[in-house]
Amino acid sequence: MAEYQTNLQIDSERLWASIHETAKFGATPKGGVKRLTLGTEDKHVRDWFCTACRAAGCEVHIDALGSIFAVRPGRDRSKLPIGIGSHLDTQPTGGKYDGVLGTLAALEVIHTLNRLDIETEAPICLVNWTNEEGSRFAPAVMGSAAYAGLYSTQDILARQDIDGVTVGDALDAIRYRGSEPVGALKLGAFVEVHIEQGPLLEAESKTIGVVDRGQGVIWYDGSIVGASAHTGTTPMNHRRDALAALSELVLSVERIALEYGPRAVGTIGECRIAEPSRNVIAGDVRFTMECRSAEIEVLDELDRRIRKSAADIAGRRRVGIQLEAIWRKDPTPFDPRIVDTIEAAAARLGYSRRRITSGAVHDAFNLALVMPAGMIFVPCKDGISHNELEEASQVHCTAGANVLLHTVLSLAGVASR
Ligand code: GLV
Ligand code: MN
Ligand code: MN
Repeated sequence: MAEYQTNLQIDSERLWASIHETAKFGATPKGGVKRLTLGTEDKHVRDWFCTACRAAGCEVHIDALGSIFAVRPGRDRSKLPIGIGSHLDTQPTGGKYDGVLGTLAALEVIHTLNRLDIETEAPICLVNWTNEEGSRFAPAVMGSAAYAGLYSTQDILARQDIDGVTVGDALDAIRYRGSEPVGALKLGAFVEVHIEQGPLLEAESKTIGVVDRGQGVIWYDGSIVGASAHTGTTPMNHRRDALAALSELVLSVERIALEYGPRAVGTIGECRIAEPSRNVIAGDVRFTMECRSAEIEVLDELDRRIRKSAADIAGRRRVGIQLEAIWRKDPTPFDPRIVDTIEAAAARLGYSRRRITSGAVHDAFNLALVMPAGMIFVPCKDGISHNELEEASQVHCTAGANVLLHTVLSLAGVASR
């Protein structure tokens, strides 16, 4: 394998321009992005991405769940491509960097290899995974989960959003149901750049987070059924108020998670009252809940304790509480070889760095189940993410892309000329 120069850099201005150009697809007045998966804005950014990949000389494949794979050939066609990328969908109140940085940093790596006329031994494959965010369709990281064999394609195609639209219908509506069977395009490894989405790197003035594992998560769908009744005539001690019961559960989840300090988090982030009215006691409430920990024992304890608390509240308040765990992802260690390669690339480039656990779930977690995988984090302002005010600096985004470039060159190898 040929040696490559240790000072290779991506084009910072082009990366920055592409992040801001794509931010117009779904731009919100507050400076963020609303680009729900498989909606019109997602179609527009996908079209932009496919055009850019083809212009960069890649062959674009789209799988049956709409994930986009753009392959830059290598010298050795017997080698599996090294996968790099992330996602272009956003939260309803998303920012400009979550997912976008990793996808466009990957595109910038391809541009850089083209500009410097570098041929790699193994091919390189850019990936935009369908539905990383999970806010329109559950579960999150859906495309990569199916790719890793955790769900069948049919199962995912039948998942519905809140309006009853299936993933299959949404794919057809934006014409992104591809012909490639899910999982058919095999990758040899996967590396994802992402903003940290937390405060640690910024607080310690570190440029690069070398992610060595990701915390586990359980998502629940819940319902509470009490009794709708007249707010003026029903004495307080006769009520079976579903919203009051949910309020107790919200605080209980918070209290339980707090007991574990930094080792756990728990949240009820959504709730809906069926037929709400100011003078009707809420009799039927639906909600979503999640808990997370990097330690599997803690994750199991959170699950057990939250369920017990829900049962206690239900008994005391004479309501029915149902909790269905609709998604569980155990804590994920990343491949030590990839972690070391990322760390060595950051060191070679002279970036300050630390090992870090990912608090958010990422597509790389699913890929780690079936191939060596790893992640590169860069700081974001005040650790804010899933918020229109999400910010990351050009210097840090560039550093993340440079580490990705050098990691990919190490993994794919540079062909001799
Ligand atoms: C992905 O955005 C997550 O919920 O961690
Ligand atoms: Mn993300
Ligand atoms: Mn996200």
